Amino acid sequence: MKKIVAIVAVLVVACGLVFAGGTADTKGGSAFIGLAMPETHVERWQKDGAALLADAVAKGYKAEVAYGDADQTKQNQQIQDFLTKGAKLLVIGSVNEGVASVVADAAKEKAIVIAYDRLITGSKDYDYYITFDNYKVGQFQGKALETALKLSEATKAAPKKITMFAGSPTDNNAKVFFDGAIDVLRPYVESGALVLVGPAPLKSSDAAFTKITTENWRADIAKTRMENLLNNDAKNVVLDGILAPNDTLARAIIEACATDAKYAKGKLPVVTGQDGEIASIAYIRDGKQYMTVFKDTRKLAAATIVLADALLKGQAPNIPGARLDTTSYDTGMKKVKAYLLEPVIVTKANYKAVMVDSGYYKESDIK
Ligand code: BGC
Repeated sequence: MKKIVAIVAVLVVACGLVFAGGTADTKGGSAFIGLAMPETHVERWQKDGAALLADAVAKGYKAEVAYGDADQTKQNQQIQDFLTKGAKLLVIGSVNEGVASVVADAAKEKAIVIAYDRLITGSKDYDYYITFDNYKVGQFQGKALETALKLSEATKAAPKKITMFAGSPTDNNAKVFFDGAIDVLRPYVESGALVLVGPAPLKSSDAAFTKITTENWRADIAKTRMENLLNNDAKNVVLDGILAPNDTLARAIIEACATDAKYAKGKLPVVTGQDGEIASIAYIRDGKQYMTVFKDTRKLAAATIVLADALLKGQAPNIPGARLDTTSYDTGMKKVKAYLLEPVIVTKANYKAVMVDSGYYKESDIK
């Protein structure tokens, strides 16, 4: 008995070491999958990477995950490294369009590429994209402002006021989120019931969109921009709301507002978010952030590995819980097949059910 315990212990330690290195190899001889995630400064990607790795290994694949630190040159090297190691399939959450050159290299080596969460633009060298319904993410953010600010009751004489932030200008998702949100808000802007303070694009293709974007989704950039707004365009107004594209930026924006006397204690604007980051769930519970949009990384990772498995086996993919959209996602060089999963809106009213009861977080970890 003691001997068995010892052997099991050795195996557990050995597996732990392999996982700690971010590499896993269970059933020798099966295909190698390279998992390239864009960054770690936004919490979700570490969960994506871990779940993808575990799911790939559970299906018998060899797999390795690498994080690009929001640096496309670095990520391209990581992807080249995967190809050198003989990767048959790459799951890529890209940093920016600069990834297209290594996607072309992958195609030359007949490795399959799946664009993960972010569309890879400027490439004709891959066929599959898997993500959440990102337009719906934006709609949820717009609708949250519509509801919380009671926009249907606002008038030109007594309008509500918001300012807007968007994600990285190099991330196609940032445009999709913004368009989803502004499509909900635009009628109120046009009627005068809603005033946009600061730059006021009415679609992502407007020139002013670049004025509200946040390079590489960096919190420090959003915080500085909010501080500037508070000292300039938003100096003599009380903002009712702020369109923030994700939780990392939402908290940076809230931090900036909290130093302004107008927004002291309980008077913060209604701020939107996305991802269900644990720190933002605490902000939502405490009434500092109004909402977030949860995109369950466990579900996206599982669906991606189901897709990868089918493609590697030459089978027709059947992805449970995902909607196939073959017309909306154009890389600029071709339309790709997009599998879209459903995002979930989270507020104080349902955060426990969505984020805790689902096992994503432990209540005791929400500090
Ligand atoms: C993802 C978001 C994430 C953002 C910053 C986007 O492409 O869809 O979930 O918050 O990147 O990492």
